[in-house]
Amino acid sequence: MKLLITNEIGQVSELDGVSARTLMLAIRDAGLNLTAQCGGCLSCGTCHVYVNPTWWPKLIPPTEFESGMLDVVDDRRETSRLSCQIELSKELDGLEVTIAPGSAFS
Ligand code: FES
Repeated sequence: MKLLITNEIGQVSELDGVSARTLMLAIRDAGLNLTAQCGGCLSCGTCHVYVNPTWWPKLIPPTEFESGMLDVVDDRRETSRLSCQIELSKELDGLEVTIAPGSAFS
């Protein structure tokens, strides 16, 4: 599957042949700048991304736990998600997201 990832400074990376289980793992496997400090345990909020609005309806809505974690991240928007909670499937082939500024390591 393919993913389009925009980083915190607007550079777009096209990831092809993605087979990772989650969006966070796909971004990290590609060596992009995403902190994801807790490794996907839903306890850090540093895998925060903005989903392109055209893709939003195709995602399974966030759980109460994910939503609670999003409440404490910086710069939450209507299309905010935690990338470790997005399971990749063929329905998401072509998914476009932007890494939130607070989730990029410096
Ligand atoms: S990697 Fe920590 S909440 Fe997603």
